[in-house]
Amino acid sequence: MSQKSMALAIAHAQQHIDDHKAQVSAGVMRQEYHFMGQTGWINDPNGLIWFRGQYHIFYQFNPYSGFWGRMFWGHAVSDDLFHWRYLPIALAPSEWYDDHPQGGCFSGSAIVKDERLYLLYTGTSNNGRGFEQNQCLAWSDDGIHFNKYEGNPVISAPEGVSHDFFRDPKVWEHEGAYYLICGAQRHGQACVLLYRSDDLVHWQFLNNMAESRGEWGYMWECPDFFKLGDRYVLFCSPMGAGERTVVYFIGDFDYRTGRFCYTTNGEIDWGFDFYAPQTFLDGSGRRIMLAWANCWDWMPFWKDWGPTYREGWCGSFCLPREVRLEGQDELAFEPVRELSLLHVDPYESEHMVVGVEPTDIPVSDGVHYDLSFSIDLVTTTADVVELHMRADKQHETVCYLDLKRALMVVDRNRADEWSKGATRSSLTGVRNAALSVRIVSDRTSLEIFADDGRVCHSLNIFPKNGCNEFTISTQGGEANLLGLRSYGVRI
Ligand code: FRU
Repeated sequence: MSQKSMALAIAHAQQHIDDHKAQVSAGVMRQEYHFMGQTGWINDPNGLIWFRGQYHIFYQFNPYSGFWGRMFWGHAVSDDLFHWRYLPIALAPSEWYDDHPQGGCFSGSAIVKDERLYLLYTGTSNNGRGFEQNQCLAWSDDGIHFNKYEGNPVISAPEGVSHDFFRDPKVWEHEGAYYLICGAQRHGQACVLLYRSDDLVHWQFLNNMAESRGEWGYMWECPDFFKLGDRYVLFCSPMGAGERTVVYFIGDFDYRTGRFCYTTNGEIDWGFDFYAPQTFLDGSGRRIMLAWANCWDWMPFWKDWGPTYREGWCGSFCLPREVRLEGQDELAFEPVRELSLLHVDPYESEHMVVGVEPTDIPVSDGVHYDLSFSIDLVTTTADVVELHMRADKQHETVCYLDLKRALMVVDRNRADEWSKGATRSSLTGVRNAALSVRIVSDRTSLEIFADDGRVCHSLNIFPKNGCNEFTISTQGGEANLLGLRSYGVRI
C-alpha cells in the first residue's frame, strides 16, 4: 500500500519534471558547473555517499515550484563531483508520518549495510497535534529505487524534546555498531542527541552529545559528526545564534559516555549563501563537504531567495570542498582538486605589482573562472587589497582584504539590482609571509577563500551580462601578488 502511494507521488513529480526541465534549463541565471535541481526548489544536501564506485547525492527538493514546499528527496550520481546525472526522485511524501504541504521527507543521511543502501530521514507531518518530526528509514538494493521501512518511524522525540525541533539524522558506523545524531531542542535550547543501533531499525538513546546554553541558539539543524586526524568535529547550522549560521566545533569524544567535549569553534563559511553543510568520506578517504548555497528567512541578514524563481528554479550547492584539520584546533575548506578538470583558458603571472590605480586581471570570460594568487606580505606596503569582481561601470562585488586590521569584508551592495549587504570576518594569516586568496565565480555565485581555506565567504549575485571585469586595487601602498593562476571553468 505505502509503496504504491510513494510510487504514484514519484511518477507525478517525474512527469512534471519532464514537462518543465527544458524550459528551466534555458534560464539565463542557471549555474554552469554548480549542482542545481532540474526544476523547482532545492535546499540541503542529503545522504551524501560514495556507493559502488560513484558519488551519490540526494537533496531537499520541491520539483513543482521555485519555492520551498512539500519536500521530496532528489537524487543524482557522478564520477567526478562535477558532471551529475539525475536519477529518479528517491523519496516522496506519502505516509502519515512524512506527508504534509509544509512537511514531507526532510533532511538526513545515507549508509551502506550488507550491500544495501539505507537512508535515514526526518518525516515531518501534522496530524492535528501540531508539527511532528520523526526519524524514518528507507532502503534500496539497486541504489535507485527506495522502499520505506514498514515499521517507520524508527525514532520519535524523547521526553522533553520539542516535537517540531527534532530532525536531520546523520548516521555512521563504528566498530560494527551504528550511531546517529539528531538536531533537537530541549527546554528551549539547542542540542544534539546521540543514538546507537545494531541493525539501523532499533535505536537506543545514548546521551545528549553536546548542547547550547543559549550562546549557540535554540535549535541546531543538520548536525554532522566525524573524526578528522585525532580530533572529533561537530558541524551544525544553529538557529538563533545571530550571524553564526554554520559552525564547527573541535573536541574529544568518548563512545562510552557518548559525550562530545569541544574546545574550539569556528565558522565554516561567513558568506550569506552557505547553509546545512554535510560531509562524507569518498573512496580515497577524503572528507568532502557540500552545502546549500542559500539561506533561510529567519536569518538576521535574509532579504529573499533571489530572482531565479522567475525561471522556475531556486537553489544550488556550493562547490564540493575538502575538509582539512589544520594543527589541532582549526579547519580549512578548499574546492576539491577535480575542479581543475574543468579548467580552460589559462593565464599565469609569477609576479604582479598592484597599486591604488586598478589593475585589470584576465579571468577568462569574466563570469566562469577560478583565480588564485598569494599576497607577499613581506614586501607588500598596502593596508588594504581590494578585489573588484563581476564589474561594469555601475556594478561590482568588492572583497576588501584589510591586512592592517586583519579583516575580510565582502560587499555585494552594488552587485546588481537585487542583492544587498556585506559580510565580514577576521582575516587569519596576515602575520605570515604570504596570504593565499582564491575566487571561484559561476553565473550567479562567488566563493572566496583566504588563508588556504581557513576563511571562506560564499554568496549569490545576479549581475546582468557584461559585468565581467576583474580589477585589483589597493589602499595605502602597493601589493606584490605571487603565483597568479587564472582559468576559465566550463563543464
Ligand atoms: C535546513 C532544514 C532542515 C530540514 C530541511 C527542510 O535547511 O531546515 O533542518 O530538515 O531544511 O527542508
